[in-house]
Amino acid sequence: MKVLDFSKYPLRKKSYGGANGNKISVVIDNELYMLKLPSHAPKNINISYANSCVSEYLGSHIFNMLGVSAQETILGTFVYNEKERIAVACKDFEKDGFVLQDFASVKNQIIDSNSNGYGTELVDILETIEKQQLIDPIVLMSHFWDIFVIDALIGNWDRHNGNWGFLYNQDSDEIKLAPVFDCGSCLYPQINETLIEKCLKDKKELDARVYDYPTSAVLKNGKRINYYEFIHLHEYKACDAAISRIKSRIDLNEINKLIDELEIITDKHKQFLKLIISARFNALFE
Ligand SMILES: Nc1ncnc2c1ncn2[C@@H]1O[C@H](COP(=O)(O)OP(=O)(O)OP(=O)(O)O)[C@@H](O)[C@H]1O
Ligand SMILES: [Mg+2]
Repeated sequence: MKVLDFSKYPLRKKSYGGANGNKISVVIDNELYMLKLPSHAPKNINISYANSCVSEYLGSHIFNMLGVSAQETILGTFVYNEKERIAVACKDFEKDGFVLQDFASVKNQIIDSNSNGYGTELVDILETIEKQQLIDPIVLMSHFWDIFVIDALIGNWDRHNGNWGFLYNQDSDEIKLAPVFDCGSCLYPQINETLIEKCLKDKKELDARVYDYPTSAVLKNGKRINYYEFIHLHEYKACDAAISRIKSRIDLNEINKLIDELEIITDKHKQFLKLIISARFNALFE
């Protein structure tokens, strides 16, 4: 896999929000990309700042692989102040007059909902999905659970209501599902080589990351959902349906190949990612 140097591409004036690291825009092959440039983890300098780029890249690819449309991503480097940093380029999906309208803003439209747009209590999310009239509620319900189930597989702890949504065209009033974006908090971006070593040697360390954390950004009775416990409760038919749908599309060899092709992480890190994905797959879906 050829690693691109993003600093060679022309910059654009578009800026992006979000709380996790710097972002700039560049044009690559006539297409606009958001470049995510994470900073060093302030508390632990041993944590590679590159991890969240790898998570963004792998997470987005896994969504696409499993039939849920996600942003296109490329891993590369960016030179700033003579220092080379790992970056991930995310193709900008706001085009042809369509802009992102996140789920939080749609939740704000539901007049009698008693929680705010960013509230992630599951029952309120489901109520919004049923009451909104922008998209067929059945289609939106399946989409929500597809994302939830894939987030469970890749251990995403940050799918808040601002991290998924719709593309809206103000001129035509058309609306459609937005590709999945912001997967930077999946696949243990906080892991470092010492912890990787521990997980490879000690089943308890690995199990904690399969059964206990990360938890979901979605809440049940005010508490972040534990993916393992929630999935095995079989409380929601639509969630079970998403599991069978997504599970039938998972090919662990294909995911392993994607990981093996990465150039910027160590072999141990690859081993860890492959192990944790297959352990999560078995624990959650078998
Ligand atoms: N591929 C994309 N195309 C267009 N806009 C995007 C794309 N990805 C993200 N955005 C916009 O940029 C914002 C910031 O991106 P992103 O959510 O990836 O950053 P973040 O800092 O990780 O966010 P958070 O605060 O959720 O951790 C998003 O909320 C969205 O509005
Ligand atoms: Mg975000």
